[in-house]
Amino acid sequence: MPFRLTDFRAADFDALDRVWKGAYPESFHVDPALIRQNSVESALFDWGASCVAYDGEEVVGFLTIKRSAGHLYHERHKEAPGDTAHINAIAFTLPEVGIEMMSLAKRTLADRGVAHLKFGQDQHHFFPGCPEEFKALRSLLMVEGFEEGDNCVDLERDLASYSNPAKPTAGAEYRMLTSSDRKSMDRMFETTFPGRWWFDVTEKLAADEIDHCVFGLLVDGEVQGFAMIQDWTQKRPMNGGMWRASLGKNWGALGAIGVTPAVRGKGMGNALLGAALENLKARGVRQCIIDWTGLVDFYGKHGFEVTRTYTAFTLPFEFSR
Ligand SMILES: CC(C)(COP(=O)(O)OP(=O)(O)OC[C@H]1O[C@@H](n2cnc3c(N)ncnc32)[C@H](O)[C@@H]1OP(=O)(O)O)[C@@H](O)C(=O)NCCC(=O)NCCS
Repeated sequence: MPFRLTDFRAADFDALDRVWKGAYPESFHVDPALIRQNSVESALFDWGASCVAYDGEEVVGFLTIKRSAGHLYHERHKEAPGDTAHINAIAFTLPEVGIEMMSLAKRTLADRGVAHLKFGQDQHHFFPGCPEEFKALRSLLMVEGFEEGDNCVDLERDLASYSNPAKPTAGAEYRMLTSSDRKSMDRMFETTFPGRWWFDVTEKLAADEIDHCVFGLLVDGEVQGFAMIQDWTQKRPMNGGMWRASLGKNWGALGAIGVTPAVRGKGMGNALLGAALENLKARGVRQCIIDWTGLVDFYGKHGFEVTRTYTAFTLPFEFSR
């Protein structure tokens, strides 16, 4: 075997970033700090299944695997721990390197009894699926037995010229939430979005302030909807913020967004989106991203256009052994 695979203990993140930049088009470029934050600094990072590949002293690839966060979710949304693993990131100079790294990860995960390996979609993800542009990776996943799923996209627009097309709605209030709305917000998450979105927002609020990150829809004083919004000052960029290098100075991000079933279909989701985008515009946000979505028409009415397309890929281990 011409390549040497090691674990991440002595990983040189500048070298990993160089391999990443050689492998992915510019719109997917990140930085060494983000690779570190979303991999080894995550409690879900899988030290046993992740690896760095060397050709002599030169780093020629890396693969980062994360465990599922499903067991950390609210009771109603818990998944069995260890059921699913995720490829957080993979980059390689030659397909042979990708194959070697994948084979080590598959062996390790299959031996542990993991049932599925998903490309991306991990907690603090980079990728909601395999980027359409990265043909070498797509081919590798197919050769390795991954099954193709749905497509999703990232959408973007410059907010400098944004004007909110949403009609006003009677009896609803749209504003940043404050710490005194926290209980009402948590009630909404518990009943309507008890899984990943509640976990994401809770984690976000451990690092950033609620009145800077969570825009709310309130009816009769109760939180009935939310939009997580981020700007370039965020301490822990996520949900679109990982593409900050491509978004440029004064970047912003919106998502997740959701309203309770009781108020859906009355124009409030649309008005919440518009009001949250106006808030970001007022802060001076320019290029704004909405990542990992299929609702192209919903956001398209606010001028958002597709910038990246991904395909979901999952490897079921029972077929690959
Ligand atoms: C998406 C969501 C926020 C929309 O809120 P809403 O209050 O129901 O939507 P509105 O009444 O404001 O509808 C606005 C427009 O979007 C359209 N729309 C609403 N939900 C949609 C959906 N799920 N898919 C596609 N279009 C949708 C409506 O048809 C309407 O179009 P129109 O103006 O041409 O009639 C809400 O359905 C929701 O919370 N869904 C679950 C969470 C979710 O999927 N969030 C988005 C993740 S990317």
